Amino acid sequence: MKNNLQKVADVILASKSMIAFTGAGISVESGIPPFRGPEGLWSKYDPKCLDLDYFHSNPKDSWIAIKEIFYDFFGTAKPNKAHKVLAEWEQKSLLKAVVTQNIDNLHQQAGSKTIFEFHGNSQKLICKECNRVYLPEEVNLNDLPPCCKNDGVVLKPDFVFFGEGIPEKAYNNSLLFARNADLVIIVGTTGEVMPAAMIPTEAKRNGATIIEINTEESNYTNRITDFFLQGKASEILEQLDELLSPKI
Ligand code: APR
Repeated sequence: MKNNLQKVADVILASKSMIAFTGAGISVESGIPPFRGPEGLWSKYDPKCLDLDYFHSNPKDSWIAIKEIFYDFFGTAKPNKAHKVLAEWEQKSLLKAVVTQNIDNLHQQAGSKTIFEFHGNSQKLICKECNRVYLPEEVNLNDLPPCCKNDGVVLKPDFVFFGEGIPEKAYNNSLLFARNADLVIIVGTTGEVMPAAMIPTEAKRNGATIIEINTEESNYTNRITDFFLQGKASEILEQLDELLSPKI
């Protein structure tokens, strides 16, 4: 059942509780490279910069890479058509929630409201000593590592590092919506990183139909995907939206 757009549009129209599950691929057309693949971030940076133990023992080294990746690169990115279509479908009550692995804040900027950020968000820096929260623009990221103005402790970006737990509320809500979904649209993820990657599988186990949009096959494609739409997220979501708009 790996097939055409009209059939997929009909399936979406008939759904009662559709959710989206997104990964780095949805933000590639906003100028943010994916993590994996030939031009991926992990081919340029060592993932250890996001390892919690390494961060604690080498805060400056970690922060140099974190700043380049998540604040210099991500800082100027804007939502693309894919983010905007998902936000419009939520406004039209077609989409119930976005579960995202991304920390780039682009779903929020596109206007999505019900978003569960499995890996947190780069737009907050936290002092783990006094729990004071800073916005990136409130600290000087040219003087690394940034430290809390209250107690001098190194600030940590409020996203999930390797070796760190998933935010409980995001985890529980994502599972709840996945178990109640009759349709999941997976956009731009390899499905390699657990426990996030089990969200679509949990939905499938509870009877959901799976649509997948990706430029390449992923861990889901030949395992749980019912409709595989190969191509760029913004182009395919725009085409689906054109088919759906007259009817929603
Ligand atoms: N449109 C759709 N899909 C795309 C596009 C595009 N324009 N460009 C790339 N892709 C696909 C790739 O084929 C790949 O399957 O997006 C996926 C990106 O995969 P990853 O870089 O592994 O990103 P993701 O799956 O979100 O990684 C999960 O890994 O490093 C951690 O915490 C990080 O949240 C991230 C997690």
